[in-house]
Amino acid sequence: MEIIKEVSLMQARSKAVKAEGQKVVFVPTMGFLHDGHRELLKAGRKAVGKDGLLVLSIFVNPTQFGPKEDLSSYPRDMDRDLKMAGEEGVDAVFTPGVDDVYPEGFETFVEVAVLSKHLCGETRPGHFRGVATVVLKLFNMVLPDIAVFGKKDFQQLKIIERMTMDLNLGVAIVGVETVRERDGLAMSSRNAYLSESEREAARCIPAALEAASGGASSGVRQATDLIEIMKKIIEKEPVAVIEYLRVCDKESLEDLDKIEDEALVALAVRIGGARLIDNTLVSTRVRA
Ligand code: PAJ
Repeated sequence: MEIIKEVSLMQARSKAVKAEGQKVVFVPTMGFLHDGHRELLKAGRKAVGKDGLLVLSIFVNPTQFGPKEDLSSYPRDMDRDLKMAGEEGVDAVFTPGVDDVYPEGFETFVEVAVLSKHLCGETRPGHFRGVATVVLKLFNMVLPDIAVFGKKDFQQLKIIERMTMDLNLGVAIVGVETVRERDGLAMSSRNAYLSESEREAARCIPAALEAASGGASSGVRQATDLIEIMKKIIEKEPVAVIEYLRVCDKESLEDLDKIEDEALVALAVRIGGARLIDNTLVSTRVRA
């Protein structure tokens, strides 16, 4: 496994693989890897086969953090990350420095105008501008044929898909299902911020989503009713502070009044020092 810091070396590595007729698959992350990231790496390997180049990037991107957010405390553990990368057969770990990605004088940003305004965009202004910008830059540095993202960050996935289409990037975007802990909590690097009691309280998040899903399949159609079901469950935990609970269209992310067929139920909840997001697709069809 190679560890590549320099942009020109990364580009050269990908070009060499492509010249041999093989594909490059890319899994961008901010590190502190968990089993959710591991599934992305497995999906990446599956997409290009054993001769393709599987690239993992680890870069904590400053432009997607707000001034009062957790950039300086974001958890890091490069040794553990490299161990997982090795276990998953990663060919190249790309770890550019902040100055390589944002050199002196940097002033160009990408904005996916409408999708970025909904959900997390309301409380994290500028966040998705930072995400879209760094992902476009990383695409230009890694030159992937395929890139893999998690559905845990559903809005991020939709924004990347939109940007890739709008800017003719020619990268196939693969979405991977959310990987959860045994009690249902979505895996996240930010779960490391939770104390033992907060971690227990966080169980209310998947419980709320499961209840919304059960409600939809048993006939609840009004978004306000589904939101009320979730609110009751989350409010039972005094440490949980709701940032948003939404029922929206799974493509446009616009709020829905009523579910016709399928809908995205998405939430952001603060527990102690952690801001946790999660989502699920709910359906009016009865599950088999
Ligand atoms: P990060 O939070 O490290 O996540 C990297 C990738 O892992 C994202 O595509 C995310 O959706 C996916 N992921 C995280 N938790 C997951 C889980 N429990 N199940 C499945 N996939 C999961 O998302 C980012 O970094 C950054 O915004 C990035 C895209 C790297 C740009 O800086």
